[in-house]
Amino acid sequence: MTEHAKINYFTEDGSVDAVTSRVGRKADARLTHVMNRLVHHMHAFVKDVELTQDEWGMAIDFLNRTGQISDGNRQEFILLSDALGISMLVDAINNRRPSGATENTVLGPFHVDGAPEYGMGANITQQGGAETCLFEGIVTDLNGAPMEGVRIDVWSDNEDGFYDVQQPDLQPKHNNRGVFTTGPDGRYWFEGIKPVSYPIPDDGPVGQLLNGLGRHPYRPAHMHFIVSADGYDQITTHTFVAGDAYLQSDAVFGVKETLIAAFEPVQHGKTKWRSAFNFVMSPKAGTA
Ligand code: BEZ
Ligand code: FE
Repeated sequence: MTEHAKINYFTEDGSVDAVTSRVGRKADARLTHVMNRLVHHMHAFVKDVELTQDEWGMAIDFLNRTGQISDGNRQEFILLSDALGISMLVDAINNRRPSGATENTVLGPFHVDGAPEYGMGANITQQGGAETCLFEGIVTDLNGAPMEGVRIDVWSDNEDGFYDVQQPDLQPKHNNRGVFTTGPDGRYWFEGIKPVSYPIPDDGPVGQLLNGLGRHPYRPAHMHFIVSADGYDQITTHTFVAGDAYLQSDAVFGVKETLIAAFEPVQHGKTKWRSAFNFVMSPKAGTA
């Protein structure tokens, strides 16, 4: 074997090896593993579809535009991850819970830190007009014991399908957002509106991709929750409105059967709907 025969010149068949063999001795072990596997899968993908030069150019342009439209408020890369099911897959891998514990779903781009902290029973809606909905339930541990001091951070769209941060000139700041803390009985209750289904932002590259794939951009109506307590796995989830037309085709694959909640009509003053949903928290690994 000559000296030159050992050099990994790039060939179609040996493409993965040509790239991965360049990793240096001082490379970070986890980064090396992740990137080598990524190169392996991406080269296999390029070979599988026999990517054309034009398609490569379109992909580069798509990624450029995805970055260019992103800013502090618009997270087009997260939206891309959501629309391709990557966000839900990462969430599933990182939040395997014991049976009975409430399941996670996608966080989405519309959570904000610092929403107002309200006393139990408050109404989080600062806009009149929409029908009031009572949300209530109990937070327990896996043994069914009520949990005190649980922080419940909630947010939803308005009756037109927009979050306050999407319409800063039309909606009051923190409209349909609030933070509640459970008392000794573990119960929570607050008022808001019955959420409506809405499209994810579809005026950018991700919207064009969905359109090209014949996919609609809609999410079924939902209320967002982050339920947290010291020593327990944080639950980042939604309750979905039972019967919604998009439950089986959520644009970001967020629906889980256990998260579908009944919204029943009631006649209680201005309150026209009631939705009950209980949360079950599991201890953080190593604290059971
Ligand atoms: C949301 O539910 O707020 C959401 C989730 C993923 C993408 C866009 C919006
Ligand atoms: Fe949402």
